[in-house]
Amino acid sequence: MTEDVLEIRNLYISYQTKQGKVKAAEDVSFKIRCGDFVGLSGESGCGKTTTALAVMHLLPKEGIVEGGEILFNGRNVLEYKDQEVREYLWRDVSMIFQGAMNALNPVHKVIDQMTTAIQIHEGVSHEEARERSLELIDSVGIDIARAGGYPHEMSGGMKQRLMIALALVCHPSLVIADEPTTALDVMVQAQILELLKQLRNRTNLSLLLITHDLSVIAETCDHTIIMYAGRIVEMGSTSKIFSDPEHPYTMKLISSFPSILSDKGIDYIPGNPPDLINPPSGCRFHPRCDFTINQCKENSPPLEEQDNHLVACWRRSDI
Ligand SMILES: Nc1ncnc2c1ncn2[C@@H]1O[C@H](COP(=O)(O)OP(=O)(O)OP(=O)(O)O)[C@@H](O)[C@H]1O
Ligand SMILES: [Mg+2]
Repeated sequence: MTEDVLEIRNLYISYQTKQGKVKAAEDVSFKIRCGDFVGLSGESGCGKTTTALAVMHLLPKEGIVEGGEILFNGRNVLEYKDQEVREYLWRDVSMIFQGAMNALNPVHKVIDQMTTAIQIHEGVSHEEARERSLELIDSVGIDIARAGGYPHEMSGGMKQRLMIALALVCHPSLVIADEPTTALDVMVQAQILELLKQLRNRTNLSLLLITHDLSVIAETCDHTIIMYAGRIVEMGSTSKIFSDPEHPYTMKLISSFPSILSDKGIDYIPGNPPDLINPPSGCRFHPRCDFTINQCKENSPPLEEQDNHLVACWRRSDI
Protein backbone atom coordinates (compact mmCIF):
# COMPACT_ATOMS: atom_id res chain seq x y z
CA MET A 1 0.00 0.00 0.00
CA THR A 2 1.26 3.50 -0.85
CA GLU A 3 1.22 6.43 1.54
CA ASP A 4 -1.02 8.25 -0.90
CA VAL A 5 -4.56 7.07 -0.59
CA LEU A 6 -5.50 8.94 -3.76
CA GLU A 7 -3.41 10.15 -6.64
CA ILE A 8 -4.93 11.87 -9.63
CA ARG A 9 -2.61 12.12 -12.61
CA ASN A 10 -3.20 14.41 -15.57
CA LEU A 11 -6.97 14.05 -15.53
CA TYR A 12 -8.95 15.50 -18.45
CA ILE A 13 -12.76 15.47 -18.32
CA SER A 14 -15.22 16.98 -20.73
CA TYR A 15 -18.99 17.08 -21.07
CA GLN A 16 -20.51 16.56 -24.49
CA THR A 17 -23.25 19.15 -25.00
CA LYS A 18 -25.27 20.40 -27.99
CA GLN A 19 -23.25 23.62 -27.85
CA GLY A 20 -19.94 21.78 -27.88
CA LYS A 21 -17.48 20.14 -25.59
CA VAL A 22 -17.24 21.63 -22.08
CA LYS A 23 -13.64 21.18 -20.94
CA ALA A 24 -14.44 20.87 -17.25
CA ALA A 25 -11.13 19.48 -15.97
CA GLU A 26 -7.78 19.82 -17.71
CA ASP A 27 -4.56 18.22 -16.62
CA VAL A 28 -5.67 17.95 -13.00
CA SER A 29 -3.07 16.21 -10.82
CA PHE A 30 -2.90 15.97 -7.04
CA LYS A 31 -2.35 13.52 -4.22
CA ILE A 32 -4.05 12.92 -0.91
CA ARG A 33 -1.97 11.20 1.72
CA CYS A 34 -3.40 8.80 4.23
CA GLY A 35 -4.95 10.84 7.09
CA ASP A 36 -4.67 14.16 5.24
CA PHE A 37 -7.46 16.70 4.97
CA VAL A 38 -7.32 18.48 1.63
CA GLY A 39 -9.46 21.46 0.65
CA LEU A 40 -10.48 22.12 -2.95
CA SER A 41 -11.78 25.56 -3.80
CA GLY A 42 -12.40 27.92 -6.67
CA GLU A 43 -15.31 29.82 -8.19
CA SER A 44 -18.52 28.13 -9.27
CA GLY A 45 -18.07 26.01 -12.37
CA CYS A 46 -14.30 25.52 -12.04
CA GLY A 47 -14.58 21.72 -12.04
CA LYS A 48 -14.56 20.75 -8.36
CA THR A 49 -17.60 18.49 -8.40
CA THR A 50 -16.61 17.08 -11.79
CA THR A 51 -13.26 15.98 -10.38
CA ALA A 52 -14.96 14.42 -7.35
CA LEU A 53 -17.53 12.59 -9.45
CA ALA A 54 -14.77 11.11 -11.58
CA VAL A 55 -13.08 9.76 -8.43
CA MET A 56 -16.42 8.23 -7.44
CA HIS A 57 -17.04 6.76 -10.93
CA LEU A 58 -20.27 8.75 -10.91
CA LEU A 59 -19.92 11.14 -13.83
CA PRO A 60 -23.15 11.45 -15.84
CA LYS A 61 -23.07 9.75 -19.23
CA GLU A 62 -22.18 12.97 -21.06
CA GLY A 63 -19.14 13.36 -18.81
CA ILE A 64 -16.14 11.70 -20.47
CA VAL A 65 -12.74 11.07 -18.95
CA GLU A 66 -10.51 11.96 -21.89
CA GLY A 67 -7.24 11.15 -20.26
CA GLY A 68 -5.35 10.55 -17.06
CA GLU A 69 -5.43 8.18 -14.15
CA ILE A 70 -7.13 8.07 -10.76
CA LEU A 71 -5.09 5.84 -8.48
CA PHE A 72 -6.63 4.63 -5.25
CA ASN A 73 -4.01 2.86 -3.13
CA GLY A 74 -1.98 2.58 -6.32
CA ARG A 75 -4.73 1.02 -8.53
CA ASN A 76 -6.29 2.93 -11.39
CA VAL A 77 -9.99 3.02 -10.56
CA LEU A 78 -10.84 4.20 -14.06
CA GLU A 79 -10.07 0.67 -15.21
CA TYR A 80 -12.41 -0.94 -12.69
CA LYS A 81 -15.19 -3.16 -14.03
CA ASP A 82 -18.73 -2.85 -12.59
CA GLN A 83 -18.18 -5.33 -9.78
CA GLU A 84 -14.94 -3.61 -8.72
CA VAL A 85 -16.70 -0.24 -8.77
CA ARG A 86 -19.42 -1.62 -6.50
CA GLU A 87 -16.80 -2.86 -4.06
CA TYR A 88 -14.83 0.38 -4.22
CA LEU A 89 -17.73 2.80 -3.74
CA TRP A 90 -18.60 3.57 -0.14
CA ARG A 91 -16.04 1.03 1.19
CA ASP A 92 -12.90 2.70 -0.14
CA VAL A 93 -14.27 6.13 -0.99
CA SER A 94 -17.56 7.72 -0.07
CA MET A 95 -19.04 11.08 -0.86
CA ILE A 96 -21.27 13.59 0.84
CA PHE A 97 -22.94 15.20 -2.14
CA GLN A 98 -23.60 18.88 -2.74
CA GLY A 99 -27.07 19.56 -1.25
CA ALA A 100 -27.21 16.00 0.03
CA MET A 101 -29.04 16.75 3.23
CA ASN A 102 -32.18 17.00 1.15
CA ALA A 103 -31.54 13.54 -0.24
CA LEU A 104 -32.84 11.65 2.78
CA ASN A 105 -36.02 9.84 1.83
CA PRO A 106 -38.88 11.85 3.43
CA VAL A 107 -41.21 8.87 3.89
CA HIS A 108 -38.83 6.61 5.81
CA LYS A 109 -37.59 6.96 9.35
CA VAL A 110 -33.95 7.94 9.58
CA ILE A 111 -32.92 4.83 11.45
CA ASP A 112 -34.58 2.58 8.85
CA GLN A 113 -32.80 4.32 5.96
CA MET A 114 -29.50 3.90 7.65
CA THR A 115 -30.11 0.30 8.64
CA THR A 116 -31.06 -0.60 5.07
CA ALA A 117 -27.91 1.09 3.72
CA ILE A 118 -25.71 -0.89 6.11
CA GLN A 119 -27.50 -4.15 5.35
CA ILE A 120 -27.09 -3.67 1.59
CA HIS A 121 -23.45 -2.61 1.73
CA GLU A 122 -22.17 -4.82 4.49
CA GLY A 123 -24.40 -7.88 4.11
CA VAL A 124 -25.02 -8.06 7.86
CA SER A 125 -28.22 -9.00 9.72
CA HIS A 126 -30.96 -6.45 10.36
CA GLU A 127 -30.18 -6.42 14.09
CA GLU A 128 -26.49 -5.83 13.57
CA ALA A 129 -27.16 -3.14 10.96
CA ARG A 130 -29.55 -1.40 13.36
CA GLU A 131 -27.03 -1.58 16.16
CA ARG A 132 -24.34 -0.05 13.92
CA SER A 133 -26.73 2.66 12.74
CA LEU A 134 -27.36 3.72 16.32
CA GLU A 135 -23.63 3.79 17.04
CA LEU A 136 -23.00 5.95 13.98
CA ILE A 137 -25.87 8.31 14.78
CA ASP A 138 -24.48 8.68 18.27
CA SER A 139 -20.96 9.23 16.90
CA VAL A 140 -22.08 12.27 14.90
CA GLY A 141 -23.59 13.83 18.00
CA ILE A 142 -27.28 13.10 17.43
CA ASP A 143 -29.35 11.87 20.35
CA ILE A 144 -30.30 8.29 19.44
CA ALA A 145 -33.77 8.93 20.81
CA ARG A 146 -34.28 11.09 17.69
CA ALA A 147 -33.21 8.33 15.31
CA GLY A 148 -36.76 6.98 15.03
CA GLY A 149 -37.90 10.30 13.56
CA TYR A 150 -38.50 11.31 9.94
CA PRO A 151 -36.14 13.64 8.06
CA HIS A 152 -38.60 16.57 8.22
CA GLU A 153 -38.38 16.44 12.01
CA MET A 154 -34.66 17.13 11.87
CA SER A 155 -32.90 20.45 11.49
CA GLY A 156 -30.58 21.08 8.54
CA GLY A 157 -27.54 20.57 10.74
CA MET A 158 -28.85 17.23 12.01
CA LYS A 159 -29.58 16.05 8.49
CA GLN A 160 -26.11 17.04 7.38
CA ARG A 161 -24.61 15.15 10.32
CA LEU A 162 -26.65 12.12 9.29
CA MET A 163 -25.26 12.39 5.77
CA ILE A 164 -21.77 12.36 7.26
CA ALA A 165 -22.73 9.31 9.31
CA LEU A 166 -24.02 7.61 6.16
CA ALA A 167 -20.78 8.35 4.35
CA LEU A 168 -18.92 6.59 7.16
CA VAL A 169 -21.09 3.47 7.17
CA CYS A 170 -18.56 1.21 5.43
CA HIS A 171 -15.43 2.70 7.07
CA PRO A 172 -13.99 4.24 3.88
CA SER A 173 -10.40 5.49 3.86
CA LEU A 174 -11.38 8.60 1.90
CA VAL A 175 -14.46 10.77 2.21
CA ILE A 176 -15.23 13.45 -0.35
CA ALA A 177 -17.45 16.17 1.09
CA ASP A 178 -18.88 18.49 -1.57
CA GLU A 179 -20.01 21.76 0.05
CA PRO A 180 -20.95 20.06 3.33
CA THR A 181 -21.61 23.31 5.18
CA THR A 182 -22.81 25.71 2.50
CA ALA A 183 -26.53 25.58 3.29
CA LEU A 184 -26.04 25.84 7.06
CA ASP A 185 -26.00 28.81 9.38
CA VAL A 186 -22.66 29.68 10.93
CA MET A 187 -23.30 28.04 14.28
CA VAL A 188 -24.36 24.74 12.73
CA GLN A 189 -21.50 25.07 10.25
CA ALA A 190 -19.11 25.31 13.19
CA GLN A 191 -20.58 22.12 14.66
CA ILE A 192 -20.11 20.26 11.37
CA LEU A 193 -16.51 21.45 11.16
CA GLU A 194 -15.92 20.30 14.70
CA LEU A 195 -17.39 16.94 13.78
CA LEU A 196 -15.08 16.63 10.78
CA LYS A 197 -12.10 17.47 12.98
CA GLN A 198 -13.11 14.86 15.55
CA LEU A 199 -13.38 12.25 12.84
CA ARG A 200 -9.80 12.85 12.05
CA ASN A 201 -8.74 12.05 15.60
CA ARG A 202 -10.79 8.91 15.71
CA THR A 203 -9.78 7.22 12.48
CA ASN A 204 -7.07 7.52 9.89
CA LEU A 205 -9.54 9.08 7.54
CA SER A 206 -8.56 11.21 4.56
CA LEU A 207 -10.91 13.96 3.47
CA LEU A 208 -11.31 15.91 0.26
CA LEU A 209 -13.32 18.94 1.31
CA ILE A 210 -14.82 20.89 -1.56
CA THR A 211 -16.10 24.34 -0.75
CA HIS A 212 -16.35 27.93 -1.90
CA ASP A 213 -15.88 28.91 1.68
CA LEU A 214 -12.19 29.48 2.25
CA SER A 215 -12.66 29.89 5.99
CA VAL A 216 -13.91 26.30 6.16
CA ILE A 217 -10.73 25.12 4.49
CA ALA A 218 -8.51 27.31 6.64
CA GLU A 219 -10.15 25.80 9.68
CA THR A 220 -9.98 22.12 8.73
CA CYS A 221 -7.47 21.28 6.00
CA ASP A 222 -3.73 20.57 5.91
CA HIS A 223 -3.45 21.22 2.20
CA THR A 224 -5.35 23.42 -0.20
CA ILE A 225 -5.93 23.18 -3.92
CA ILE A 226 -7.23 26.16 -5.87
CA MET A 227 -8.85 25.54 -9.25
CA TYR A 228 -9.75 28.06 -11.89
CA ALA A 229 -11.72 27.22 -15.05
CA GLY A 230 -10.94 23.52 -14.98
CA ARG A 231 -7.29 23.76 -14.02
CA ILE A 232 -5.35 23.75 -10.79
CA VAL A 233 -3.64 27.12 -10.41
CA GLU A 234 -2.14 26.75 -6.94
CA MET A 235 -1.65 23.97 -4.44
CA GLY A 236 0.26 23.64 -1.20
CA SER A 237 0.00 23.75 2.56
CA THR A 238 -3.05 25.61 3.81
CA SER A 239 -0.96 27.90 6.00
CA LYS A 240 1.19 28.99 3.05
CA ILE A 241 -1.78 29.45 0.70
CA PHE A 242 -3.54 31.71 3.17
CA SER A 243 -0.54 33.63 4.45
CA ASP A 244 1.40 34.02 1.23
CA PRO A 245 -0.58 33.07 -1.89
CA GLU A 246 1.41 33.25 -5.10
CA HIS A 247 -1.13 32.97 -7.88
CA PRO A 248 -2.98 36.22 -8.70
CA TYR A 249 -6.27 34.29 -8.69
CA THR A 250 -5.66 32.91 -5.20
CA MET A 251 -4.66 36.37 -3.99
CA LYS A 252 -7.92 37.81 -5.30
CA LEU A 253 -9.98 34.93 -3.97
CA ILE A 254 -8.56 35.40 -0.49
CA SER A 255 -8.88 39.16 -0.49
CA SER A 256 -12.46 38.96 -1.74
CA PHE A 257 -13.41 36.89 1.26
CA PRO A 258 -15.35 39.01 3.77
CA SER A 259 -14.07 39.33 7.33
CA ILE A 260 -16.16 40.87 10.08
CA LEU A 261 -13.07 41.60 12.13
CA SER A 262 -11.31 43.69 9.55
CA ASP A 263 -12.32 47.05 8.09
CA LYS A 264 -10.25 46.62 4.96
CA GLY A 265 -13.33 46.21 2.74
CA ILE A 266 -13.94 43.48 0.21
CA ASP A 267 -11.95 43.17 -2.94
CA TYR A 268 -13.59 41.38 -5.84
CA ILE A 269 -12.61 39.82 -9.12
CA PRO A 270 -14.15 41.70 -12.00
CA GLY A 271 -15.80 39.67 -14.75
CA ASN A 272 -16.89 36.06 -14.66
CA PRO A 273 -15.15 32.71 -15.02
CA PRO A 274 -14.87 31.82 -18.72
CA ASP A 275 -17.10 29.64 -20.80
CA LEU A 276 -15.42 26.24 -20.78
CA ILE A 277 -16.54 25.43 -24.32
CA ASN A 278 -14.25 28.15 -25.65
CA PRO A 279 -11.89 28.96 -22.79
CA PRO A 280 -9.32 31.74 -23.24
CA SER A 281 -5.99 30.81 -24.76
CA GLY A 282 -2.90 30.61 -22.59
CA CYS A 283 -3.54 31.09 -18.90
CA ARG A 284 -7.31 30.87 -18.49
CA PHE A 285 -7.22 33.59 -15.85
CA HIS A 286 -5.44 36.13 -18.05
CA PRO A 287 -8.52 38.18 -19.07
CA ARG A 288 -9.23 38.93 -15.38
CA CYS A 289 -5.69 39.20 -14.11
CA ASP A 290 -3.94 42.45 -13.15
CA PHE A 291 -0.53 41.09 -14.15
CA THR A 292 -1.16 39.78 -17.66
CA ILE A 293 1.66 39.96 -20.19
CA ASN A 294 1.70 38.59 -23.73
CA GLN A 295 3.10 35.25 -22.68
CA CYS A 296 0.05 34.71 -20.44
CA LYS A 297 -2.24 35.13 -23.46
CA GLU A 298 -0.29 32.76 -25.63
CA ASN A 299 0.88 29.84 -23.52
CA SER A 300 -0.64 27.94 -20.67
CA PRO A 301 1.70 28.10 -17.66
CA PRO A 302 2.69 24.71 -16.19
CA LEU A 303 2.12 23.96 -12.51
CA GLU A 304 5.62 24.31 -11.14
CA GLU A 305 6.87 23.21 -7.77
CA GLN A 306 9.08 25.26 -5.48
CA ASP A 307 9.52 24.27 -1.83
CA ASN A 308 6.55 21.87 -2.00
CA HIS A 309 4.33 24.65 -3.28
CA LEU A 310 2.87 24.47 -6.79
CA VAL A 311 1.81 27.48 -8.80
CA ALA A 312 0.84 27.85 -12.46
CA CYS A 313 1.74 31.44 -13.30
CA TRP A 314 4.28 32.90 -15.71
CA ARG A 315 4.78 35.85 -13.36
CA ARG A 316 5.29 33.89 -10.17
CA SER A 317 8.78 35.20 -9.56
CA ASP A 318 8.13 38.89 -10.27
CA ILE A 319 4.79 39.70 -8.62
N1 LIG B 1 -23.79 17.37 -16.92
C1 LIG B 1 -23.16 18.42 -17.42
N2 LIG B 1 -23.28 18.75 -18.73
C2 LIG B 1 -22.63 19.79 -19.26
N3 LIG B 1 -21.80 20.61 -18.56
C3 LIG B 1 -21.66 20.34 -17.27
C4 LIG B 1 -22.31 19.24 -16.62
N4 LIG B 1 -21.95 19.24 -15.32
C5 LIG B 1 -21.11 20.26 -15.15
N5 LIG B 1 -20.92 20.93 -16.31
C6 LIG B 1 -20.04 22.08 -16.54
O1 LIG B 1 -18.73 21.70 -16.15
C7 LIG B 1 -18.06 22.77 -15.50
C8 LIG B 1 -17.61 22.32 -14.14
O2 LIG B 1 -18.75 22.08 -13.35
P1 LIG B 1 -18.67 21.57 -11.84
O3 LIG B 1 -20.04 21.22 -11.43
O4 LIG B 1 -17.63 20.53 -11.75
O5 LIG B 1 -18.18 22.89 -11.11
P2 LIG B 1 -18.01 23.21 -9.57
O6 LIG B 1 -16.64 23.75 -9.40
O7 LIG B 1 -18.40 22.03 -8.75
O8 LIG B 1 -19.05 24.40 -9.37
P3 LIG B 1 -19.98 24.78 -8.10
O9 LIG B 1 -19.07 25.50 -7.16
O10 LIG B 1 -21.02 25.68 -8.68
O11 LIG B 1 -20.54 23.51 -7.53
C9 LIG B 1 -19.05 23.94 -15.50
O12 LIG B 1 -18.76 24.75 -16.62
C10 LIG B 1 -20.38 23.27 -15.66
O13 LIG B 1 -21.30 24.12 -16.29
MG1 LIG C 1 -19.92 21.68 -7.39
